[in-house]
Amino acid sequence: MSNFNIAVVAGDGIGPEVMEQNIRVLDKVGQKFGHSFKYEYVKGGGCAIDEFGEPLPQHTIDVCKASDSVLLGAVGGWKWDTLPGDKRPERALLGLRGALGLYANLRPATLHEALKDACPLKPEFVQDGVDIMVVRELTGGMYFGEKGRKQTDMGEAAYDVEQYSVKEVERITRTAFEIARKRKKHLTNVDKQNVLESSRLWRSTVLEVAKDYPDVELDHLYVDNASMQLIMRPSTFDVIVTGNIFGDILSDEASQLTGSIGMLPSASLGEGSLGMYEPVHGSAPDIAGKNIANPIATILSGAMMLKYSFGLQDESKVIEDAVAKVLNAGYRTGDIMSEGMKKLGCVEMADAILAEI
Ligand code: IPM
Ligand code: MN
Repeated sequence: MSNFNIAVVAGDGIGPEVMEQNIRVLDKVGQKFGHSFKYEYVKGGGCAIDEFGEPLPQHTIDVCKASDSVLLGAVGGWKWDTLPGDKRPERALLGLRGALGLYANLRPATLHEALKDACPLKPEFVQDGVDIMVVRELTGGMYFGEKGRKQTDMGEAAYDVEQYSVKEVERITRTAFEIARKRKKHLTNVDKQNVLESSRLWRSTVLEVAKDYPDVELDHLYVDNASMQLIMRPSTFDVIVTGNIFGDILSDEASQLTGSIGMLPSASLGEGSLGMYEPVHGSAPDIAGKNIANPIATILSGAMMLKYSFGLQDESKVIEDAVAKVLNAGYRTGDIMSEGMKKLGCVEMADAILAEI
């Protein structure tokens, strides 16, 4: 029997409704295995702007830091789209990642057997399955580099600096190699070292770290080529390691191979066991409050939390298995719906998963 304190940043749009279903699932697993999860709800994103005038109040950071892990729904929406960069809801996400030192973002893209029809590629491209883990560096690169405006002889200009240190590359590379070791022992490094100095340092650092992992096969792709290969031969990828912006883009691309971004969980990890767990999808304001959002990405993020922050492997597997059973039984939300399947709302999808736990 263990007790865990979880900070919950449900956020905006569909964030709160998918989070509610996630918590129902976690509580059921807790009951079954005798764990107690205590939740502390804090504001981040647009709802925090409305209530406190800022996307990431210090209180939210403090509660997250003091917790055993953080669950995040989604942030953002049209309402806040015209605010200046440092006042936008997205600052909550970037700020939490930075404040909690969560430099490693794990985004598994797995094509469920039952969802092969939902994958937009022709069947022959995915007949060997898709099981890719994108390991994205999360607290460096141009998302965190110096930014600003200046006058040039072409008029006003803006810049965001892409910078990586050896230490930053080393730690994310180690994370990726360790993960690859537990999977198919194949790591693909993605950079743009033919053009970018930051990528040249990235590449040489990856090669240096690789000396400690002779058992893992390592290859390299330029990011433009990688985006193409992901479509042409998705089955040949195992683990991908890359920088912040490349990982942001490639993980959205990889998500589509699985049929819907509504299926993809993520874990953001740092040095300790504290992590932040969130679906890869956004706040989807157009479908918010209609009980049609897919809660699976958020529920699978809860499963990742059990595994990576709490070390509860069996409990995590129970959730993954329940999701697979529900999909195999033909239950679908609208985003993954196909002919002959049974369409469920957000709450009903969670009901079906609960019934399998
Ligand atoms: C993501 C999102 C965020 C990112 C945004 C909302 C700041 O796109 O988690 O992938 O770019 O990291
Ligand atoms: Mn993104």
